[in-house]
Amino acid sequence: MLSTFWQVWITVITLGSIIGCGILIMYTSRGQRKEETDQTTGHDYDGIQELDNPLPRWWVFMFWGTIVFGFGYLGAYGYGNFKGFLTVEVDGEQVTWTSHNQWKAEVQAFEREIEPLFNEWAATPIPELIGNDAAMQTGHRLFKSNCSVCHGTAAQGAKGFPNLADNDWLWGGSPERIVETIAKGRQGIMPSQLPMLGEEGIADMTNYVRSLSGLPHEADAAERAAPKFQQFCMACHGADGKGNQWLGAPNLTDETWLYGGSSREIAFTLRHGRHGVMPNFSEIWDTLTEQKIHVVSAYVYSLSNEPEVTSAQ
Ligand code: HEC
Ligand code: HEC
Repeated sequence: MLSTFWQVWITVITLGSIIGCGILIMYTSRGQRKEETDQTTGHDYDGIQELDNPLPRWWVFMFWGTIVFGFGYLGAYGYGNFKGFLTVEVDGEQVTWTSHNQWKAEVQAFEREIEPLFNEWAATPIPELIGNDAAMQTGHRLFKSNCSVCHGTAAQGAKGFPNLADNDWLWGGSPERIVETIAKGRQGIMPSQLPMLGEEGIADMTNYVRSLSGLPHEADAAERAAPKFQQFCMACHGADGKGNQWLGAPNLTDETWLYGGSSREIAFTLRHGRHGVMPNFSEIWDTLTEQKIHVVSAYVYSLSNEPEVTSAQ
């Protein structure tokens, strides 16, 4: 709702300018000749003369027409707090037209149309659905408009945002785990290890972490840190450092890094901790939620899996 001041402000400007146009045309038409004439206004530019003729009738009608249209338009669409008489259907009810309501009505009409198709896709198991081109195109579109800001247009990921195309998973790559990730969101919580390790311990541990994936490291330092890894890190990353998909703890023995495998990045991770947040799409999508999650999950699954061929096809 607008305050009285702004309501008056808008009224004066919109109604005032329409009425002003009416006054202007009445004022300029006053005292004009009715007939065409050869008499000039006295203006003459390089032989081009301005005749003192009445305004063309069609033009005057059009001018009045736009004024009438202006009032009609305000009546239909409203302005400020004044509601127009146009309505649109939202949630099965006729409500006053606003650009927001019109957008909702259009989205709902479109979703009513595509619902049967989405329901059919949602009933198809993911390993099979990835063989359906139309479903995968829709999944790709959902991905582009909802996920690529973080995961990249080709799902290739970026620092802090996992690559979804490589079949290497923080939280698990089965259809069920992917659906769960998207439906519930995920929080990867790596606490700061500074209180446990101290500055020197962090330098040693950085070397140990690099040793796990065969990167160049100082062997002495890594050796000093090995028992501490079993003490402080094993619970989440596993005794062998291969990670734990129930906690989203990454595998530290492979070449895939979420935040980076340089000594600097590893030391930063250990000193400050990390907290990656994957949003919860059950809360973000409020229509066809389960169906969309199923289809976009299938799209993600299709990036690193081949379709299962069913005998029916
Ligand atoms: C409470 C569980 C937990 C503990 C304890 C823990 N981590 Fe982590 N660690 C995680 C999680 C979860 C992530 C992923 C963080 C994210 O997704 O933002 C992670 C991320 C990392 C990374 C970044 C990996 C990458 O791919 O960039 C490194 C390195 C790491 N941890 C090493 C360690 C070491 C070494 C210790 C022990 C000193 C340790 N962590 C203790 C849970 C833990
Ligand atoms: C605001 C940024 C953001 C958006 C938007 C986002 N994600 Fe994520 N996603 C993340 C982060 C960060 C993680 C890693 C969480 C962690 O550190 O454990 C993640 C993790 C994932 C994972 C788990 C990957 C693995 O290795 O287990 C999947 C699958 C995923 N996202 C899919 C999606 C899909 C599909 C969408 C769109 C519907 C989406 N994400 C939208 C940030 C985002």
